[in-house]
Amino acid sequence: MTTDQEAFDALIAAEQRIEPRDWMPDAYRKTLIRQISQHAHSEIIGMQPEGNWITRAPSLKRKAILMAKVQDEAGHGLYLYSAAQTLGITRDEMTEQLITGRAKYSSIFNYPTPTWADMGAIGWLVDGAAICNQVPLCRASYGPYGRAMVRICKEESFHQRQGFEILLTLMQGSPAQREMAQDAVNRWYWPSLMMFGPPDDESPNSAQSMAWKIKRFSNDELRQRFVGMLVPQAEVLGVTLPDPDLRWNEETERWDMSEIDWDEFKEVLAGRGPCNAERQRNRRTAHEDGAWVREAAAEYARKQALLPELVEGAA
Ligand SMILES: [Fe+2]
Ligand SMILES: [Fe+2]
Repeated sequence: MTTDQEAFDALIAAEQRIEPRDWMPDAYRKTLIRQISQHAHSEIIGMQPEGNWITRAPSLKRKAILMAKVQDEAGHGLYLYSAAQTLGITRDEMTEQLITGRAKYSSIFNYPTPTWADMGAIGWLVDGAAICNQVPLCRASYGPYGRAMVRICKEESFHQRQGFEILLTLMQGSPAQREMAQDAVNRWYWPSLMMFGPPDDESPNSAQSMAWKIKRFSNDELRQRFVGMLVPQAEVLGVTLPDPDLRWNEETERWDMSEIDWDEFKEVLAGRGPCNAERQRNRRTAHEDGAWVREAAAEYARKQALLPELVEGAA
């Protein structure tokens, strides 16, 4: 007779998917709830830095593209909340954790967006880093998560292209526009490298996540892959990546780079980044402002449920 644990291990070993109906270890469930809900929160909070520019986009076309992109991020948040719900946490619990500041989300969204070029740099660098992180997650062992990631990744590649194209247009413009593009790349480059998380020797949960086949590559491997993708693209753009020590090392077959400022990473993660308080306040206000929508929807659902009775009563 096989135990639940053996059945679970066998599914993982055979590269099969774990589905909501399957038995799973408690720690696996908890890890997934944490990871998927943090990911969902990141998508939702991530709407703010770019939402900031919808009313000020430089043309109707740019505005339409940016609106579509920000709307995609809302959709990503919703798929992911749904995936997390299959593990037994409610949407209300997750929302509560977010608006009370107990939940984490990607630190990158706590940086400000002072110029239009930030829309380019976010698409190119932040969505680019998201793609590197998320493409392997399409094969995550938990079915609902992996399937959500497939669609999300398709949309992320559009996001990355639109960011690249904003920067390319600016780089072909006036000296002031080129300077604005370079400045945005300078500000977003290091935070985008931090998106892959701490170095491998300081990432205690990684080994277990790899064994469970949630995670497929280590933080440093993904960071290397990301930099390898950026270098030729930066050349096409004509922007400089702000790291004088960045070069390909023939011997190690890796990118050498300067040390990342992990103190900054920890500060932002601890809630002391430039926009942490503002992002959370906006989210809470949006939630409170939406109370009437939730009440109306609940009331509509209640009436719909009563409908058969009313119809029968009339007959
Ligand atoms: Fe997204
Ligand atoms: Fe995106």
